Amino acid sequence: MQILGNELCLAILGDTEEVLDRQVADASVDLIFVDPPYNIGKRFSNFYDKWPSDREYAEWCYRWLDLCIKKLKPTGSMYLMTSTQAMPYLDLFIREKLTVLSRIIWAYDSSGVQAKKHYGSLWEPILFCVKDKKNYTFNADEILVEAKTGARRGLIDYRSDIPKPYNTKKVPGNVWEFPRVRYRMDEYERHPSQKPEALLRRIITSSSNVGDLVLDPFAGTFTTCAVAQWLGRKSVGIEFQEEYYRIGLRRLNIAGDLNGEKLRPPAKTYVRKNGPNSNRGQAGLF
Ligand SMILES: C[S@@+](CC[C@H](N)C(=O)[O-])C[C@H]1O[C@@H](n2cnc3c(N)ncnc32)[C@H](O)[C@@H]1O
Repeated sequence: MQILGNELCLAILGDTEEVLDRQVADASVDLIFVDPPYNIGKRFSNFYDKWPSDREYAEWCYRWLDLCIKKLKPTGSMYLMTSTQAMPYLDLFIREKLTVLSRIIWAYDSSGVQAKKHYGSLWEPILFCVKDKKNYTFNADEILVEAKTGARRGLIDYRSDIPKPYNTKKVPGNVWEFPRVRYRMDEYERHPSQKPEALLRRIITSSSNVGDLVLDPFAGTFTTCAVAQWLGRKSVGIEFQEEYYRIGLRRLNIAGDLNGEKLRPPAKTYVRKNGPNSNRGQAGLF
């Protein structure tokens, strides 16, 4: 196990069950974002993401889910992802322990190879759960999006005494469209299932406050910690593959080298010619 950090973030190299058990205090975390391996046969550096059966995968998940729940504050929230096929197992398990407030669909288009004999998969499920449905953080006003009425001109609300334009902003519904991370995007890192910064920005903004503690038990490229850091939240990220841990140390500005080796961003052959260099950390990404 290795732990390195700065004033806002701790990046931990190690197995998540062991780290959660030994390094994270019970009832200390405000928000957990969980994006585990999905049991679909991806290769994560030296780790192959395939369990002998669905049941064995689910049982492994139940162990770290119980630990995550133990680490959440009584006012805490958890966002949980897995594959569409595995989510029913986790949903049944979690709804007995937490209140599931939303079942979110993260939808995206894909330019990759499309299925020809069935309907291709273009979404991933996310459960939004809380420990106490009467006492949790939800900063609705900070994540408002444009309400798409379909109307070409401004609609007027005649229901009140003085007619006024309809509110054009709304809290997002439970279908979220964010593009997947592509090679040409500034945020791209070399990892098979990096999540978009915009997705984490919405989750962290709505379900935590400045100074709160955010935990990501399967940090990958440490997207959660990077976004938490921009938003002034503290964070702990856990990842057991050194290749990805190194990405996290660089992305979070925790270290410039590890074991004498420089930490470098992915070398890209593509150089963006037009437009701004980066849209990271700016408003309007919801
Ligand atoms: C789906 S990816 C997370 C991607 C991450 N959300 C991001 O944006 O980069 C899951 C990660 O969990 C890591 N992992 C798998 N099993 C683990 C374990 N037992 N302990 C710690 N990390 C683990 C994998 O190496 C992989 O990087």
